[in-house]
Amino acid sequence: MADTTLMDKLVSLCKRRGFVFQSSEIYGGLGSVWDYGPLGVALKKNVKDRWWRAMVHARDDIEGLDAAILMHPKVWEASGHVAGFTDPLVDCKTCKARFRADKLADSPCPQKPSKKAGEHSTCELTEPRMFNLMFKTFMGPVEESASVVYLRPETAQGIYVNYLNVLQGSRQKVPFGIAQIGKAFRNEITPGNFIFRTREFEQMEMQFFVKPGADAEWFEQWRELRMAWHHALGLNPAKLRWHQHGEGELAHYAKAAYDIEYEFPFGWNEIEGIHNRTDFDLQRHQAASGKKLEYFEPATNERFVPFIVETSAGADRVTLTTLVDAYREEQVEGETRVVLGFHPSIAPIKVGVFPLVKKDGMPEFATRLYHDLKQQVPAFYDDSGAVGRRYRRMDEAGTPFCVTVDGQTLQDGTVTVRHRDSMTQDRVAADTLRVWLRERTED
Ligand code: GAP
Repeated sequence: MADTTLMDKLVSLCKRRGFVFQSSEIYGGLGSVWDYGPLGVALKKNVKDRWWRAMVHARDDIEGLDAAILMHPKVWEASGHVAGFTDPLVDCKTCKARFRADKLADSPCPQKPSKKAGEHSTCELTEPRMFNLMFKTFMGPVEESASVVYLRPETAQGIYVNYLNVLQGSRQKVPFGIAQIGKAFRNEITPGNFIFRTREFEQMEMQFFVKPGADAEWFEQWRELRMAWHHALGLNPAKLRWHQHGEGELAHYAKAAYDIEYEFPFGWNEIEGIHNRTDFDLQRHQAASGKKLEYFEPATNERFVPFIVETSAGADRVTLTTLVDAYREEQVEGETRVVLGFHPSIAPIKVGVFPLVKKDGMPEFATRLYHDLKQQVPAFYDDSGAVGRRYRRMDEAGTPFCVTVDGQTLQDGTVTVRHRDSMTQDRVAADTLRVWLRERTED
């Protein structure tokens, strides 16, 4: 049974605390498009930074790339997206709602939500017709078919068409990878579940180029590494699992595919896909562009079109996963404490700084300390209300540590550090706090 209450609470917390807002809200909102507020943008950036560090900085065999969203329209013909990136769409002639024909069992009937689409006596569904998910626009001033361009539905193609450029400029050798983080767009028929399925989203994709025949081994290696990354992000391992794509599920380019799924309040769902894309994309681009996309292997004097193992995660989906996984409510002294127990490395604010009272030099000391810490980590200064209330506000924002300047600080230079999860307190010398925090908030 879907725990919709938890999602409702999370959506409301995200709005109240400035994580995520509905796009264009003052105009009634734009369907399934979301904006990230101050805490949300910091959280998502921290998720992306961790991915970039693991996939690019920490490895010698992966290079970064930032390809443009708009690409030559022939890219999408060659990749198979113009012909095949479609979902089956049905309309209800009675209520005018639209559904994915293959997801009717998950779609409530708008007339009677306790029934599924098509089950109510007055439902009149059309035959399915294939609907292409790519957003179209026009390049230049004339809106004609010759000037149609697409908003990319995946970042991967920008990597394929640049693979030889990267290879030449970087002196890499196969096997090697190219990583990219960027926006993708899909005109989803049934988006939903907050930032889980949206029409504009960000992907964190890595394409690993290998010798044909080495693909199965690299595929397994990447599966292992990617699951380990989600564990290291602090996600509950019991809520992560593999889903292997069966014959009917495989994308048009894939020979083998596994999803990493997370158990959301609305059920198990994909957060990342690991795909063996074979040489499908490079062969198609080679044929369509007329440019050779072969790799010459000096050690063997062989020429071949590399196979590609892809790891593809949604930055928004992983961000949602961190929010869902971190959210908890606890009873403390007869009150409900709401906590976002993020891994400290992704917490938007690392430390709250408070003067115990607004007198006796405490605000001055706390302000100096706050400005000093802020040079190194995101910090938040708060002197309003009781300290207990200030702790609660930081718990809700997921801040792992709160520092209080009190009477003792003015005598011996130490401050109280309160830990978000255990609520225990330590005494730490204020002038060592930078190092103390760095040790506890980096990976
Ligand atoms: N290049 C391969 C590819 O795009 P995909 O399984 O279609 O594969 C990869 O997408 C990841 O992108 C998904 O696991 C998900 O995290 C994210 N994603 C896909 N569609 C999305 C959407 N409409 N909203 C948010 N994230 C999405």
